[in-house]
Amino acid sequence: MRFRNKVVWITGASSGIGEALAYAFHREGAHLILTARRRDRLEAVRNACTGDGKILLLPFDVTDYDFHPTAVAASIEHFGQVDILINNAGISQRSLVLETDFSVDRRIMEVNYFSVISLTKTVLPYMIERGGGQIAVVSSLLGKFSTPRQSAYCASKHALHGYFDSLRSEVYDQGIRITLICPGFVRTEVSMHALRGDGQEHGVLDNRIARGMPADVCARHIVNALYKRKEEVYIARYEKIALYLKRFAPGLLSKLMRKIKLT
Ligand SMILES: NC(=O)c1ccc[n+]([C@@H]2O[C@H](COP(=O)([O-])OP(=O)(O)OC[C@H]3O[C@@H](n4cnc5c(N)ncnc54)[C@H](OP(=O)(O)O)[C@@H]3O)[C@@H](O)[C@H]2O)c1
Repeated sequence: MRFRNKVVWITGASSGIGEALAYAFHREGAHLILTARRRDRLEAVRNACTGDGKILLLPFDVTDYDFHPTAVAASIEHFGQVDILINNAGISQRSLVLETDFSVDRRIMEVNYFSVISLTKTVLPYMIERGGGQIAVVSSLLGKFSTPRQSAYCASKHALHGYFDSLRSEVYDQGIRITLICPGFVRTEVSMHALRGDGQEHGVLDNRIARGMPADVCARHIVNALYKRKEEVYIARYEKIALYLKRFAPGLLSKLMRKIKLT
């Protein structure tokens, strides 16, 4: 019960990591605000939560920026506070640069980057007024290095690090703590909804994702990281080695990436 009576807002809560986070935080005593586009899936998540905290469903498209002030106002009116915002909603990509329509590059940046900074900027003043809060961002190992066929996705995740590392130092004295979360392969719907170059969904459960870490295990690590107010965490198995290669043998990683086959 490490988060008893804390209000935790999770975006992308209708499946995968966000859904698992909803169950994990509810078990830990938190009240939840759950956001995603699919209302029916959010209702199913609410019904499957086993804690005793209250749950507010707030379905919207995170790229509907004009709605962000209304969403934040509704959350504050309902609970009086938001203690933790977890920016988790995201979409991936499965297409080479040269086959990717520019509109797809932009869409991925809108969902994975601009929506995150817009919602964060809308919530922050309320947190600062209350004397503190936590902002979590679900980035990826691909926020630290890049793979082929995911150029815009990697760019969007790298951008989050640049932005939130800067914000962290700006708001530290106001009691705001920022956690960047970098999962490796996690078994979710992510590859199914990944965009192809023409903007259509990939629609395939990729092998590496199918064999990835279970979402509830990933969620447990995230809950622990937020409890400890970590600045950055890597939640991955063998694929974590690429991080060390990027740091200590970048030329070797570059060669490996030329040979990689994303299925
Ligand atoms: N799975 C992995 O291997 C992995 C690895 C590293 C990082 N991540 C990151 O983890 C996060 C969660 O992904 P996941 O793996 O759990 O995939 P997922 O099962 O596909 O979940 C993605 C979530 O984001 C929501 N979402 C997508 N676009 C949205 C929009 N425009 N507005 C509102 N909600 C939106 C989806 O809900 P609706 O469709 O209902 O809107 C869904 O709840 C993402 O940021 C992803 O980049 C995943």
